[in-house]
Amino acid sequence: MTRDVKNHLLFEVATEVANRVGGIYSVLKSKALVTVAEYKDRYTLIGPLNQKSSSVEVEELPVTNPELKATLDSMSARGIRYLYGRWLIEGAPRVILFDIGSASHFLNEWKSDLWNVAGIPSPASDTETNDAVLLGYLTAWFIGELCCHETEKAIILHAHEWLAGVAIPLCRQRKIDCATIFTTHATLLGRYLCAGSVDFYNNLDKFDVDYEAGKRGIYHRYCVERAAAHSADVFTTVSHITAYEAEHLLKRKPDGVLPNGLNVVKFQAVHEFQNLHAEKKEKINEFVRGHFYGQLDFSLENTLYFFIAGRYEYRNKGVDLFIESLARLNHRLKEVNSKMTVVAFIIMPAATRSYTVETLRGQAVVRQLESSIQDIQKSMGHRLSEWCQNPSHCSSRAQIELPNLDDLLRPSDRVLLKRRMFALKRDTLPPIVTHNMVDDANDPILNQIRSCQLFNTKNDRVKIIFHPEFLNSSNPILPLDYDEFVRGCHMGVFPSYYEPWGYTPAECTVMGIPSITTNLSGFGCYMEDLIENSEDYGIYIVDRRMKAVDESITQMVDMMFDFCKKTRRQRINQRNRVERLSDLLDWRRMGLEYVKARTLGLKRAYPDQFSQGTNPFDSDETKIARPLSVPGSPRDRLANGAMTPGDLGTLQESNETGYIPWLNKDTDDDVTLRGQSVA
Ligand code: UDP
Ligand code: G6P
Ligand code: GLC
Repeated sequence: MTRDVKNHLLFEVATEVANRVGGIYSVLKSKALVTVAEYKDRYTLIGPLNQKSSSVEVEELPVTNPELKATLDSMSARGIRYLYGRWLIEGAPRVILFDIGSASHFLNEWKSDLWNVAGIPSPASDTETNDAVLLGYLTAWFIGELCCHETEKAIILHAHEWLAGVAIPLCRQRKIDCATIFTTHATLLGRYLCAGSVDFYNNLDKFDVDYEAGKRGIYHRYCVERAAAHSADVFTTVSHITAYEAEHLLKRKPDGVLPNGLNVVKFQAVHEFQNLHAEKKEKINEFVRGHFYGQLDFSLENTLYFFIAGRYEYRNKGVDLFIESLARLNHRLKEVNSKMTVVAFIIMPAATRSYTVETLRGQAVVRQLESSIQDIQKSMGHRLSEWCQNPSHCSSRAQIELPNLDDLLRPSDRVLLKRRMFALKRDTLPPIVTHNMVDDANDPILNQIRSCQLFNTKNDRVKIIFHPEFLNSSNPILPLDYDEFVRGCHMGVFPSYYEPWGYTPAECTVMGIPSITTNLSGFGCYMEDLIENSEDYGIYIVDRRMKAVDESITQMVDMMFDFCKKTRRQRINQRNRVERLSDLLDWRRMGLEYVKARTLGLKRAYPDQFSQGTNPFDSDETKIARPLSVPGSPRDRLANGAMTPGDLGTLQESNETGYIPWLNKDTDDDVTLRGQSVA
C-alpha cells in the first residue's frame, strides 16, 4: 500500500510518559516542544496509565480524530481502558495511557504467543516483564488496528527502552504497515555488569552475553531488548559510548546516536539567572540553619553547596567516588585551615518510612525562633518609634536621649528569647540522613559515610546530608522543586561509571551551575569533544577511563579543592560561562538527529518512495530549520557551521564510522577522542 510519508503520524511509546522515574521522562518532556512544533496533532505519546501521576499531569480530552476513535473504540469494546488527553507540559502533546491492568486477562495468552512467535520466555514472577508484555501487546494491537483505519498516512512507531520494546518485534512479525525505531537509553547487561565489580569497558567484546544475562536472572528481559534492537527498522542509542556497548552486548550496530537535549530558556539579561541562584540559595540556607541548629558555627557566607542526585545506583552513579572524595576534601580543607565549609547533599530515593523526628524538630525550632524574633522586632520597632516621638527625650538640640536595650526589650521578650535559645541546644551531632531508612544498617551510602567517618562534627569542613527522596516544592523541610534546588547550589557532582547520557550535569549546565562529570558518561564525552579547556567553562571531566579509581578520586578532590579556593567573583564569572554553553544542549540542535532517524525509518519501510533520488521531503516548507547560530564556546570548527552531535557518527543507511576511538581496539590509545573527531 502507498502511504503519504511526508505527513506521517508519529507515536512514541515509553513507560515514563507522564510518569517521572528518571532520564527518559526528561527526554520526552523536554523534547515535546520541538516535536509538537514539527508534527502538531500528528504526534502522540503512548504509555502505561499510572493513576497517581496522570491525575496531576494529564488533562482528559475527547477523541475527535475519526481513525483514532475507531481504533480506541474497538479496543475498548474488548475491555481495554485508556486515558486520552493532553500532557500538561510545554508543547502539550497528546497522550494515550493504557490501563495495562484492564488487559491482564490476556497476559497468559500473550506470553505464550511471545514464546511461540519470538522464542522469548517470560517467567511468572517478574512483574516488570509482565507489564512490558502487556504494554507491548497493547501498543502493537493499537498500531495494527490504526493501520487498518488510517490507510493514507504512513505511521512511525518509536519505542524507548526494553520496557516499551515488545511492540517492535510484534510489528515486524505481524508485518504491520509502519516504520519502527527502537532507542535504547542503556543496555540491561551494561547496567547489571557495571553495578557489580566488573572491568566493563575493557571486556566489552569478550562477554558471553547469554551466560551473563542468565547468571543475573535477566535472560528473558535481555531477549526482549535484543529482539527490539534487531527487528526495528532503525536502531539508535543516546551516546557513542552506549552505541559501542550496544553493538557488543546486543549484537547490532546502532544506525546512529540520538543525544539528549534540553529545552533551553534564555533570560533577557545574564544577571537574571544569577539573581535566581542567590534567591534559591537563600532557601537552602534556611534549611541548613534548621538542619545544623545548635551547631551552626560556620558562616553561610563562606559555605558552598555540592550535590549528587539521581536514581539510587550506588556504583553506576559514582556515589562511592563522591563520598570518598568528600572525605579527602574534608582532610585537605582542614589541613590548610580553610574558612570554607562544604555542605554536600545526596538526593537519591531509597526505601524510607518517614522524616526523622530530629530533622523535623530542627526546622521547627529554627522557624519558631525566627517567628519570635519577628514579633519582638515588631514590638521593639513600635517602642523605638514611640520613644523617638516623645518630646521629653529631645528637650533641646544638645539633649537627645537615645533608648537603652532594656527600654526596648521587655523582660517577657527576654524570657521568650532564652526559651527559644534553650530549644536550640543539642548534644547530638546534626543528622546525616533526613529520613528513617527501612534498612539503615545495610544501606551502602550510609555504610560508606560511616567508614569515612563523615559525621558532621564541628571540626569537619565537609558536612553531609543524605535526602533519600526526590525533591519537590511541597517537601516539609526543603520546599524546593529539583531545578530550584540545583539553581541554589554551587556545584553538581556526578562521577558516574555507567551513564549512557546523564541528564543531571546537562541540567546544571543550562541553569548555569558548574558540574563534575566523567569521560564514561555520554554527556561528558560529548562536552569533551566540543569544548577546549572545559574546566574553564565549569564542566569538570574526571578521567575514569585511563586512570585507576584512586587516581580518579585524587583528580576529583583537586577539582573540588580548587573550586573551594575561588572567590565569589570567580564563581559568578564561571556561572556566566557555564550558562553560555546552553545552546550546545538545546533540542533545536539535538532534535535534528531525531528527524534523521525518522527519515531513515521511512526510507527503510517505504523504499519505493525514496527510489531513484526522489525524496518526498524535498520541498521548502518541510525543510528543517537551521540550528541555532554560533554556540557559546565550542571549538572553532563548529563556529562556522551546523554540526550536530550525530554528525560524529551520523545516521545513514550504513554507519561506517567508529564511535569512540579509545573503545576501538585498533586505535592508538594516545589519540584522544577530540583529536580524532576533529581531524
Ligand atoms: N531528578 C528529579 N528530581 C530529583 C533528582 C533528579 O527529577 O530530586 C531528575 C533529573 O532532573 C534528571 C533525572 O532525574 O532529569 C535523572 O536522569 P539521568 O539521565 O541523569 O539519569 P537516569 O536516572 O535516567 O539514569
Ligand atoms: C549571584 C548574585 C549575587 C550574589 C552571588 C552569590 O551572582 O547575583 O548578588 O552575591 O550570586 O554567589 P555565591 O557563589 O557566593 O553563592
Ligand atoms: C537512562 C540513562 C541515562 C540517560 C537517560 C536518558 O536512564 O541511565 O544516562 O540520561 O536514560 O537517555
